[in-house]
Amino acid sequence: MSISLIGRSIGESVTLKLNQTYAILRAKGEPVIHLGGGEPKSKAPIDAITAIASHLNSGEVRYAPVDGSIDMKKAIIRYTRAHYGRMVEPENVIASSGAKQAIMVALQAILDPQDEVVFPAPYWVSYTEMVKLCGAVPVPVIPEDGTFTPRMSDITQNVTSYTKAIIINSPNNPSGAVYPASFIKEIVEYCEQKGIYLIMDDIYHLLTYNGKKPANPFDYVKDFSDNSKLIIINGVSKAYAMTGFRIGWAVANTKLIYVMANIQGHQTSGPSILLQKAAIGAINGVQSSIESLRTTLENNRKVMIQQIKAFDGLHLIEPDGTFYAFVDFSAYEKDSTKLSNFLLEKVRVLAMPGVEFGMEGYLRLSYCGSIKDIIEGIERIKWAIDPNSPNELYIGERKLVRDWN
Ligand SMILES: Cc1ncc(COP(=O)(O)O)c(C=O)c1O
Repeated sequence: MSISLIGRSIGESVTLKLNQTYAILRAKGEPVIHLGGGEPKSKAPIDAITAIASHLNSGEVRYAPVDGSIDMKKAIIRYTRAHYGRMVEPENVIASSGAKQAIMVALQAILDPQDEVVFPAPYWVSYTEMVKLCGAVPVPVIPEDGTFTPRMSDITQNVTSYTKAIIINSPNNPSGAVYPASFIKEIVEYCEQKGIYLIMDDIYHLLTYNGKKPANPFDYVKDFSDNSKLIIINGVSKAYAMTGFRIGWAVANTKLIYVMANIQGHQTSGPSILLQKAAIGAINGVQSSIESLRTTLENNRKVMIQQIKAFDGLHLIEPDGTFYAFVDFSAYEKDSTKLSNFLLEKVRVLAMPGVEFGMEGYLRLSYCGSIKDIIEGIERIKWAIDPNSPNELYIGERKLVRDWN
C-alpha cells in the first residue's frame, strides 16, 4: 500500500483513542473513571436547543455559506465586541466546524512546506500534527525556567528565517496556565514588527479562576488592517459546553479570511446550518450558563488541587484556567505513556500521558467531571502508585489486590 509522506507522518490522536477505550470499557460495565476528558458535562444552553430545534422543524436544512451565515457572522462580531471590546466587520470572520478546523484552515492559508511554527510546551496535542499536515515543521518550546509560562526569550531563541507563525494558547491546554499580560503584549508587538503570524487560540478564555483574566491581544495590536498578522480563534465548544456542535471561528484580516474561506469551501463547505443556528442561539441568548459552568469548574478545581496536594511526591503548578491540571508524576514514573496504561489497566482510571502534550513525566488530569470521580479517581491513582498503600482496594464489590511494587 502506498501512503503519502504526510499521511505517514501523522500520529493518531492519543486523546481521542483513549476516549474510545473509555467508551468500550464503559459499555462492558467496567467501573472506569475518566480523568482525561476534554469537555464540560453541563447541558448546552436552552437558547441553543430551541434555535436548532425550530430550524430543524422547518424541514429545510440546506447548504450554508462557506464562511458562515450572515447571522452566524453577526453573532461572532457580537462575541468579539463583548469579550474583546473590538468591532470587526463580517469580512473579518469565518465560522468553521470547530475551533480545530478554524486553526487548520488558518495554517493551510499561511504555511508553505518547510515553514516553521513555534509554540510553547506543553501544548495542545493537535498543533504538531496540524502543522505537519501542511508539510511544515512544528517547533515546540519548553520554558527554560521549569514553569508553564514562557518568557519572550524562550520564543525568540527559536524563531528563524523559516518561522511563519507562533501559536499561543492561554489559558493553556494542558497546563491551565494563563500567560501574563506583559507576555501577550510583547508577543503581539514582536509578531507585528517581525511580520510573523500570531495565532491566539482563545478557546478557554472565559474559563478562568481566582479573578485571573487572560490578556486581550487587541489591547496591544497597532494595525488590524489587511497587513495584520493577528488571528484569534474561538468557539462554542468549551464555555457553552457545546463540543458536539462543532462550531468555532477565526477573526483575522479580510484577505486572510477570504483565503481561508476558499480552502474551507473545497474541504467541508460551511459548517452545518443547524449547528450554526445552535451556536447563534447560544451567543445571542442568556449568558448565565457560562458563569454557572465556570463556578462549578472552580469548585472542582479546588477539590482536585486538595487531592493532589495531599499526595506526597506529586508536583503541581496550580491551573488558573481551563479544566485541566498538569501534574508531575516523575517521582513515581518517568514514562507517562507507561503510567497512563498502568493506571487504566490496574485501577481503571483514564489520565492523559504528558508526552503527548510535549512534556514527559506528567499526566493531564481533568476536573470537568464529577467531584466524586475526581476524589475517587485520585484515590485510586494513589493506591496504585504509592508503595505504602494497603494491599487491597475495593471498587464497588470488586476487590483489587496489589500484585506489583
Ligand atoms: C487548545 C484547544 N484548541 C482548540 C480545541 C478545539 O476545539 P473545538 O472543539 O472547537 O474544535 C481544543 C479542544 O480540545 C483545545 O483544547
